[in-house]
Amino acid sequence: MTKVAMVTGAGQGIGEAIAKRLAKAGFAVSVADLNCDQAQRVAKEIRDAGGQSLAIEVNVAFRDQMFSAVEQTAEHFGSFDVLVNNAGLGPVTPIKDVTPEMFDSVMHVNVAGDMWGLQAALEQFEKKPRQGKEVIGKIINATSQAGVRGNKNELLYSSSKFAVRGLTQVAARDLAKQGITVNAYAPGIVDTPMMRKIAEDQGLKMSDYESLIALNKLSEPDDVAKVVEFLASDKSDYITGQTILCDGGMQFE
Ligand SMILES: NC(=O)c1ccc[n+]([C@@H]2O[C@H](COP(=O)([O-])OP(=O)(O)OC[C@H]3O[C@@H](n4cnc5c(N)ncnc54)[C@H](O)[C@@H]3O)[C@@H](O)[C@H]2O)c1
Repeated sequence: MTKVAMVTGAGQGIGEAIAKRLAKAGFAVSVADLNCDQAQRVAKEIRDAGGQSLAIEVNVAFRDQMFSAVEQTAEHFGSFDVLVNNAGLGPVTPIKDVTPEMFDSVMHVNVAGDMWGLQAALEQFEKKPRQGKEVIGKIINATSQAGVRGNKNELLYSSSKFAVRGLTQVAARDLAKQGITVNAYAPGIVDTPMMRKIAEDQGLKMSDYESLIALNKLSEPDDVAKVVEFLASDKSDYITGQTILCDGGMQFE
């Protein structure tokens, strides 16, 4: 039976690459994004390449919208197997600049969005029959190398991505008995609209980051998508609660 995945923030950047790679791997994919036009574009490109897709407009910060997006996906494709909580905000925030409004918006998208996704996916997974101790559902969260070591000028972003690792570990322990794995991926410096804006806000060129990376080159979105494809596949069935760094060698654990 065709496996079904929903990828949030799939309208551009890393999420787009993940949605396209999962579709190529045979998943029916729901392309969920705040930006409906971009979600439609990506979903169409997947269908044009012979895959199955559905575009969904969602703001992950709102619990009811996440439940509705996951439900729509399950109803449309007849199953629900993998949720990739990829959507995120990445502001540059020197300590003195952080405001309550910024705190709320970043934490609601980067942390609460993952929690609502987790709850919504669990609702679907609990409807699935299970043979023995097989894995029946996977949740994959976007953290960052900045969620493994605190990054300069990223008080809010780094804090939110550390929280994602925390919720990944707790959910992995809580859901293991139900055959649900929960893991995270931690990219480094990926050439996406988000990272180009971060570079601009720090007065840097993208190439300035190369010296921070052991492999001495920037990441393409597909470098990350390959790791997520592994985490979504049965090849990773015996892995849970982990954060997989895919940063070309910025942080070493
Ligand atoms: N680009 C990097 O170098 C990098 C590094 C480490 C981690 N990450 C993480 O990877 C993920 C994707 O990053 P990216 O660089 O592709 O970002 P991006 O800003 O280029 O794309 C993010 C997408 O998410 C969507 N989005 C934003 N807020 C949303 C919301 N509330 N609800 C639904 N969709 C929303 C946007 O419309 C956009 O399509 C993020 O969680 C980010 O923190 C990125």
